[in-house]
Amino acid sequence: MGIQFGGDYNPEQWPEEVWAEDLKLMKAAHVTMVTAGIFSWAKVEPRPGEWDFGWFDRVMDGLAGAGIAVCLATMTASPPPWLSRAHPEILPEGPDGQRRWPGGRQHYCPSSPVYRAHAVRLVEQLATRYAGHPALTMWHVGNEYGCHTRQCFCEVSADDFRRWLRTRYESVDALNAAWSTAFWSQAYGDFDEVLPPRTAPTFPNPAQQLDYLRFGDEALRACYLAEKAVLTRLTPEVPITTNLMPQHKPVDAFAWSAHMDAMALDFYQDPYASDDHIRAGYVFDLMRSARSGQPWMLLEQAPSAVNWRPRNGPKPPGAMRLWSWQAVAQGADAVLYFQWRQSLGGAEKFHSAMLPHGGTDTRIFREVADLGRELASLPGIEGTRSRAEVALLADWHSWWALELDSKPSTALDHSRIALDHYRPLFEAGVACDVVPPQRELSGYRLVVVPNLYLLTMSGAERLAAYVRAGGQLLVSFFSGIVDAHDRVHPGGYPAPLRELLGLRVEEFWPLDAGRSVSVGGGAYTGRADLWSEAIDLEGAEALAHFTTGELAGRPVVTRHTYGQGTAWYAGTRLDAALMRALLDDIRAAAGVLPVLPGLPAGVQATVREGADERYVFLLNHGAEAVEVDLPAPMRDALAAQDAAGATGRVALAARGVAVLTDPVG
Ligand code: GAL
Repeated sequence: MGIQFGGDYNPEQWPEEVWAEDLKLMKAAHVTMVTAGIFSWAKVEPRPGEWDFGWFDRVMDGLAGAGIAVCLATMTASPPPWLSRAHPEILPEGPDGQRRWPGGRQHYCPSSPVYRAHAVRLVEQLATRYAGHPALTMWHVGNEYGCHTRQCFCEVSADDFRRWLRTRYESVDALNAAWSTAFWSQAYGDFDEVLPPRTAPTFPNPAQQLDYLRFGDEALRACYLAEKAVLTRLTPEVPITTNLMPQHKPVDAFAWSAHMDAMALDFYQDPYASDDHIRAGYVFDLMRSARSGQPWMLLEQAPSAVNWRPRNGPKPPGAMRLWSWQAVAQGADAVLYFQWRQSLGGAEKFHSAMLPHGGTDTRIFREVADLGRELASLPGIEGTRSRAEVALLADWHSWWALELDSKPSTALDHSRIALDHYRPLFEAGVACDVVPPQRELSGYRLVVVPNLYLLTMSGAERLAAYVRAGGQLLVSFFSGIVDAHDRVHPGGYPAPLRELLGLRVEEFWPLDAGRSVSVGGGAYTGRADLWSEAIDLEGAEALAHFTTGELAGRPVVTRHTYGQGTAWYAGTRLDAALMRALLDDIRAAAGVLPVLPGLPAGVQATVREGADERYVFLLNHGAEAVEVDLPAPMRDALAAQDAAGATGRVALAARGVAVLTDPVG
């Protein structure tokens, strides 16, 4: 089958004469799969209950005739104008009570029974009509849930929230206890008194906000599940997915993963950010880990520029190829783009496409077609998997709670802190999984916990059990502070982790914007910013101290032997070099090696393995050509050479890629 290659296909934007050329050029570009129909609702149902699928039949038949698989969208991402006119109550409202009007897309309240009923009706039509169609390969439900309408605060949502709360808490007393409503005279006498956390004179109740984030995620998921139920009933053999977004706060990818047959991601690397491939690395690892190593799909990326950043430069030559191979190297079995043919009108006319305004005689089309050919030349990668000895924990609930208002510092940014911890592992060439706190940890030699503010007692016990059994654990500042309801764990910070870490935190000393302090202690000498805290040792040893600032002389990096393992702690945001030094030492203690020894700076290496084959991917993210020495000769499957040829040294141009396999025979 090979790695799937293609993109979003929006034929309704073009006269039918163009479609034949689309098919011809798709074949020329080695397209194997398109995602079709994402925004076709208004065209297939121009008036309520009046269906016009004839044109879409011709699209599906044409694709089938060309041997192109269709990941068929359920078309529900942008309700048609007649629906919001007949039912303005489907329109979402912001926390300020302001309605969000039609005119863009995703203008629906996720809790709206009217929206859901119309969506389900449409999906029934689609699934009935295209069940058994030779092109139908997968379902693509909705589109980027929560991208524009992250949460809705309308009356319909308020009712749905109250229903959700009744199920969760059963009694209003339990709700009052969980939300600490004794504070500021907020005690409820009845569930009917509860509202969404709309804009209030001052900070709305944090536990209420946290539950509203949970509810918002579940409301979006309920839309997905309502459509999925129809698809499972009518086309049980067709796998179902939806395209998630990277580090997307409203949607808990781990919670969704259980309901997806394959993880799918849209990722738009920023050509102006020199290290965006590291952010990509983190999100790709999360996608692969979410379903325990199952290959995932890069469902959207840009062939070149996007239209939605303030300044949108093209991807320089080779960057699109490199970043596409990065997805494959990190476990993707599909590389797709937004979109096939560049629009002439509408908001995305300056967004690049596989087939640009300039046609086939363009750098973009050539690079796309070359990549299609290259991917097609290497069947066998799909289905292979990677192994990692390091796990980095990520948890949406902690993220939601951390970034609520009224904290010691509102500068703590979950995504940034996660990357601070991921970067040194990526740069050291270490394979890493990104997993939720509930995941079994015993198979990992090292577990990294960046800033897990919300931690349940059972979550803390799992970490302790992991270390007791011999694991190496790194925990960072402001972790283990509150329970699932954003209530501080009593017993001194971080109460659930004190025994494991061998310390207590007496006071938080967040650092002011632009302020940094010095840290000293042998190899651990450098700067720290963002956060500091007053640590008292309770069995741990100090590896480094603050040397300037109010906390000069107090420990900041500690190590504690616990059972058979070791718990390390960093009470600040260490600078990048310090973070690397610390993680290198913890890795050495854990016996975790990089994928390849002696990798030049900027080169990423990963491995995917199947029953009989092994692929080593080398990706040069740097601006200079480099050479990489291999521990044993391998064959470069992308280079022109005879099948048995093997080399112990690989030359990589700037943005170069090599896919190495073991020599034949
Ligand atoms: C995604 C979306 C696509 C397209 C693309 C442009 O967010 O799913 O429909 O808008 O962005 O980059």
